[in-house]
Amino acid sequence: MLELRDIRKQWDHRQLLDGVSLSVVAGETVALLGSSGSGKSTLLKIVAGLDQPESGSVWFDGVDITRLPPERRGFALMFQDFALFPHLNVVDNVAFGLVEQGVRKAAAREQARAMLQRFGLGDRGTARVWTLSGGEQQRVALARALITQPRALLLDEPFSALDATLREQLRSEFRERITEAGMTAILVTHDEQEARAMAQRAWGLQGGQLVALW
Ligand SMILES: Nc1ncnc2c1ncn2[C@@H]1O[C@H](COP(=O)(O)OP(=O)(O)O)[C@@H](O)[C@H]1O
Ligand SMILES: [Mg+2]
Repeated sequence: MLELRDIRKQWDHRQLLDGVSLSVVAGETVALLGSSGSGKSTLLKIVAGLDQPESGSVWFDGVDITRLPPERRGFALMFQDFALFPHLNVVDNVAFGLVEQGVRKAAAREQARAMLQRFGLGDRGTARVWTLSGGEQQRVALARALITQPRALLLDEPFSALDATLREQLRSEFRERITEAGMTAILVTHDEQEARAMAQRAWGLQGGQLVALW
């Protein structure tokens, strides 16, 4: 279980996060909704370890990870500007995390190819990432995030750079893949429809506090 306990964070003399507590059980997707500037990304960065709270703590399976660096948390991140590696082809982008973990390149590529097959990108493995469409790039980003079997998946407005039709299609696709992987996930979005399509529970971030939506 992923747990936030009484997280507080100021920015520019404003109390951006004013006592945020949240728990996400294994295999559950929780959505965080809120208007632009409400602090959603800041909260997600604190979960990821990319930012530190002034007070409060982050826990995973009963262990306090508040001071743990991002690479040791075992979480995967996916942001709106899907930062795929432009110098690597599709297979090597997906295999990257496994190679980092010490898996041999050939074995990592084999796993990456199998994953791309399931994602409907089996024939794009040797393509350069910039030749893919926006939707394809997001699928590659998700494959790259899931292949290392992270303990949690953190999604920050993953589809906001895409057009409406593609967004709708990817919502249900991502939902399926995340369920299939049994992944614990936090989805940050300002789009309630997206939250409804992808999350079992949703919270709104208002005035630095979480309000239960459903
Ligand atoms: N490191 C930072 N640099 C600049 N502005 C920041 C930083 N951290 C927080 N902020 C400010 O905090 C507010 C909330 O930002 P953010 O968490 O990105 O909100 P959201 O993701 O909900 O749009 C914004 O006004 C933003 O400018
Ligand atoms: Mg944001």
